[in-house]
Amino acid sequence: MHQKGTNPKKVLDELRIIQKHNQQYETGKILCSMCTKPHPIAKKAYTLFFESNLGDTGLFPATAQLEQETITQLADLLNCKTAEGFIVSGGTEANLLALTAARNQTQKAEPEVILPESAHFSFTKACNLLKIQPKYAPLDNNFRVKPYEVESLVNKNTIAIVATAGSAELGAIDPIESISEIAENNKINFHVDAAFGGLIIPFLPKNSPKFDFQLSGVTSITVDPHKMGMAAIPTGGILFRNKKMLNNLKTETPYLSTDSQYTLTGTRSGASAASAWAVFNALGQEGYRKIVRRCLSNTEYLVGQIHNLGFKLLCKPELNVFAFQTQNTKEFAEKLWKKGWCISYIPRYECIRVVVMPHIKRVHAKAFATALKTEKL
Ligand SMILES: Cc1ncc(COP(=O)(O)O)c(C=O)c1O
Repeated sequence: MHQKGTNPKKVLDELRIIQKHNQQYETGKILCSMCTKPHPIAKKAYTLFFESNLGDTGLFPATAQLEQETITQLADLLNCKTAEGFIVSGGTEANLLALTAARNQTQKAEPEVILPESAHFSFTKACNLLKIQPKYAPLDNNFRVKPYEVESLVNKNTIAIVATAGSAELGAIDPIESISEIAENNKINFHVDAAFGGLIIPFLPKNSPKFDFQLSGVTSITVDPHKMGMAAIPTGGILFRNKKMLNNLKTETPYLSTDSQYTLTGTRSGASAASAWAVFNALGQEGYRKIVRRCLSNTEYLVGQIHNLGFKLLCKPELNVFAFQTQNTKEFAEKLWKKGWCISYIPRYECIRVVVMPHIKRVHAKAFATALKTEKL
């Protein structure tokens, strides 16, 4: 830190120059992120509430009310009006909280959690922190976990089963209905990681798979407004069907304006809750349905192009994520990056992964298709 301060205008000018060195959503070339350009109202709401601390709700009761209303809207969308939870920093914290609650509730000496092989790496972090043994169940040809493999891993140490509604790598939706039955029959907590899919699947035009609290075995759900919800970063969400489960997360907070907290972070952004509240209210289900429809239509367009250009699709996309292969896929991915296309290369499937988020317009999808054609030659 310098001894003397600098003129704020100069500081901001410098920041604006620095910011230009980041990738910009507006170029339409970010095709590897599950976040997107937040809805314009998210920024305004965030700015209005940027001083609010949800870790000290006695000082910010109005923001706490906004959080409550945001959670209630999510609970309603996910088919359990009485579910309770919190706006947290993201999917990682939400998944960590779900496993923490399950571990504390079950009190097993050697806790284990059953995960799909496709589970997000946040569960690896959670298992490390919580000293839970992860047990991985294999996937089928569509990259969905096999329910009978899940069932075969259940034993007296199992504290929870996890499934994913919209996997980070391929957007795959596990057979959550079957796993819900397994969890219920064995009286085991069942956490659904819908960090990505939770704000898409309810808005799919047809044949939405069941993935939420309407399945009686589902006990908790991660759903992130900062992904397809178009809220500001960081805005994650965790919901529990049973309010009693929250007691397993309770920590006393002796010197604050409230006597307890339930989340990992102490100081917690009220601006995040306000941004989600604002986008939910501005868009409504109709607004989200339109956005999801556009993302799916652009995905379909690109998948058609992938097919026409002779690339090999890894599997039929379920959401706005697809993956493909070619000869020397890794080299091809590097070529695309050099041309400014931000795509992911997934080594374990040797494929290129594309996420078609709301900032991708048809004109961008067309430009990407042209780039694929040019670079393939
Ligand atoms: C399915 C899934 N779970 C969890 C996460 C982790 O979320 P975050 O990066 O917000 O912590 C992601 C991130 O993309 C995800 O796709």
